[in-house]
Amino acid sequence: MQTAKRFFSLEGIDGSGKSTQIDMLISALEAEGFSVVRLREPGGAKISERIRELLLDPAFKGIMSDDTELLLYNAARAQVIKEIIRPALEAGKVVIADRFAWSTYAYQGYGRNLGAKKVQSLTEITCDGCFPELTVVLDLTVEASRARTAKRGAAPDRLEQEKADFFERVRQGYLAAAREFPDCVSAIDANRTPEEVFADLYTLVKARL
Ligand code: TMP
Repeated sequence: MQTAKRFFSLEGIDGSGKSTQIDMLISALEAEGFSVVRLREPGGAKISERIRELLLDPAFKGIMSDDTELLLYNAARAQVIKEIIRPALEAGKVVIADRFAWSTYAYQGYGRNLGAKKVQSLTEITCDGCFPELTVVLDLTVEASRARTAKRGAAPDRLEQEKADFFERVRQGYLAAAREFPDCVSAIDANRTPEEVFADLYTLVKARL
C-alpha cells in the first residue's frame, strides 16, 4: 500500500478514547509549530457529512445492504480526500483523521464479513496513494467499550446498534491489520489512563515527523 507522509489516523471501537487522544496530539503538535488539519470519517467535507447522515441513520437498519454501506463509506472518503486531505498534505500540513480506511477493513471486512480482499481492492481505488503513513489502533475489549459508551447515554446510531459479536469481529479485524501491516498500523492498549495511552501515541507519531 502506497502511503502519504504526514498523514495519520486513529482507529478503535467506540469508547476507545480517539477524540481525547486526537485533542492531546493536536495540542502537542501545534505547540511544536506544526500546522494540523483534523477531520472525522465518514465526514470532514460537506458531501461526506451528508453521506454520514445516510450511513448512521437508524431508520435504515435492516434495509441498507452491506455493499451499499461499503460503497458509501468509500464515496464519503473519495470526496474528503479530494477536497480536504490532498490539498492539506500538498500545503505541508499534518493531517489527523478520526477513522479512515482501516475502519472499513475492520467494520465492513470483518464486522460485516465482506472480506479483507474486497475491501482492500476498493480502498486502492478510493485512496489512490492518499493513505495514512501511520494508523494507531486504540485497542479495547468489547466489554470495556460497552461499559464506557453506556455512560454517554446518547441514542445509538445504526452501527452502534450492532451486537457484541459484530464488535468482537471488528476488534479482531483491527488486530489482524496491526499484525499483517506493521509498517503502517500499530495497536496500543487503550485500557489505561489517557496520559499513559498518549505517551505511546506521541512516541509513534513523532518517530514519523
Ligand atoms: P463515529 O465517527 O461516531 O465513530 O461513527 C462512525 C461509525 O461508522 C462507527 O460506528 C464506525 C463506522 N465506520 C464504518 O463502519 N466503516 C468506515 O469505513 C468508517 C470510516 C466508519
